[in-house]
Amino acid sequence: MMRTDGYLLDNRQAEAGPRFDALAAVFDPTTFRHLEGLGVGPGWRCWEVGAGGTSVVTWLAKKVGPTGRVLATDIDTSWVEPAARQPVEVRRHDVGVDQPPGEGFDLVHARLVLLHVPERERALHSMVKALRPGGRLLVEDADPALQPLVCPDEHGPAEQLANRIRQGLRTLLAERGANLSYGRRLPRLLREAGLHRVEADAHFPIASPAGATLEAATVRQVRDRLIAARLATQEEVDRHLTNVASGAMDLATAPMISAWGRKR
Ligand SMILES: C[S@@+](CC[C@H](N)C(=O)[O-])C[C@H]1O[C@@H](n2cnc3c(N)ncnc32)[C@H](O)[C@@H]1O
Repeated sequence: MMRTDGYLLDNRQAEAGPRFDALAAVFDPTTFRHLEGLGVGPGWRCWEVGAGGTSVVTWLAKKVGPTGRVLATDIDTSWVEPAARQPVEVRRHDVGVDQPPGEGFDLVHARLVLLHVPERERALHSMVKALRPGGRLLVEDADPALQPLVCPDEHGPAEQLANRIRQGLRTLLAERGANLSYGRRLPRLLREAGLHRVEADAHFPIASPAGATLEAATVRQVRDRLIAARLATQEEVDRHLTNVASGAMDLATAPMISAWGRKR
């Protein structure tokens, strides 16, 4: 049995699908830019950790072509399964607990995964271990503590409510062991894990239609738990979703920090 209960944004919920689509819309351009920069191309062997949906895996499959390999792992593979055709293999795997699912990878990538994994240190070492010498690691993680507001311009009641609900989401994440300041640590952690040529940057939209879609998908997915924990009322969640749908709010995400380096 894989443990999925500790993970707040559980893939078994129907709302996970729209949320993966929204994550792709917000973050794929940044992820693909970094992957291009690392040189991913024909014949590469890649491990996509905590794959979630299909967008990154499908993009990697096109890049590596029929001579390459893309191994997509997750504790719950239901949303990535549709991408499982040559050169993509999908496997259930807990990156915090299980041995690496192979070695000699040219690229290992995880986006928005390690901050949720209680054994994130072990997971990172497992990912480094799976690389060939010279192989590239790209780890991308949010740092909600660096920029905690969904509405940095908190100028009215709708924005105040949005920020209160975002605070509730952070409380739920922290209760489940998520590290809400993990992203900023990545360059140091990659260096300490023995990688060289380590660099990092950050990306987050301050206002975008994709950001609004992501906010709505996330709040729909956690609404019952926000209400059960008395972090928001049903009426407040409904009002917030109506405010988001109006298109009149500028909605930011937490910064996503991308850090990359090479194994010696
Ligand atoms: C926020 S989603 C991100 C999905 C995808 N990487 C993306 O950026 O769109 C986190 C994903 O990590 C997976 N996950 C959580 N804990 C995990 C673990 N211990 N091992 C492997 N995957 C895990 C979840 O099931 C989920 O699919």
